[in-house]
Amino acid sequence: MSGEKPKVVFVLGGPGAGKGTQCSKIVERFHFVHLSAGDLLREERAREGSEFGQLIEEYIRNGKIVPVEVTCSLLENAMKLSGKMRFLIDGFPRNQDNLDGWQRQMADKTDMQFVLFFDCAEDVCVVRCLGRGQGGSGRSDDNMESLKKRIQTYNNDSLPIIKHFENAGQVKRIDATPDADTVFQAVERVFLDAGFQ
Ligand code: ADP
Ligand code: C5P
Ligand code: MG
Repeated sequence: MSGEKPKVVFVLGGPGAGKGTQCSKIVERFHFVHLSAGDLLREERAREGSEFGQLIEEYIRNGKIVPVEVTCSLLENAMKLSGKMRFLIDGFPRNQDNLDGWQRQMADKTDMQFVLFFDCAEDVCVVRCLGRGQGGSGRSDDNMESLKKRIQTYNNDSLPIIKHFENAGQVKRIDATPDADTVFQAVERVFLDAGFQ
């Protein structure tokens, strides 16, 4: 077998930490393809004839994590379709089921570089999500009721996954509190140090 495997960076952090915002900047600067698991699920929910539409809406509104078979296949299809070799996988893996599914389906086919972890206090995350909702995100989960559940899921299910990667020495932690341009200065350093340009 010849050829390199596609390079993958996992992008994690609480709801509203700024993952999508920073990913856009990374795409511009380092020419990655940005794949947000949440965006892919919302697209699939909206796709006419999708057998998962209702299930996805139910999970998203309740801040629960959709079974990995759905999410991982959406990610794999999007990776194949792009024909590219550098991917930001944003908002995944979000729980043990996500991680196990990735190991089964994708780990051997890809080259995971590191985990970019946007560390953001809960109250800041809440303000940002509610602001995004007021700004017209149209998301059914940018409201206080869903947000409480999303934060619970993050604390109970996602933080242990970040911890798992941390124990393996794979986490690049970024303070997500400052303004977006300041956060990106730290992000840029991480990618340059990892040899990307
Ligand atoms: P995530 O993808 O992690 O949920 P987003 O990138 O969508 O987060 O950002 C959530 C909201 O917070 C958006 O309205 C965005 O414009 C805003 N935002 C993102 N980064 C920052 C920042 N560093 N400071 C202030 N607001 C931010
Ligand atoms: O990352 P984002 O905030 O866009 O995710 C929105 C929702 O999409 C999550 O709260 C969850 O319900 C769903 N999701 C999921 N599995 C993922 C990522 C997102 O079920 N890996
Ligand atoms: Mg996002």
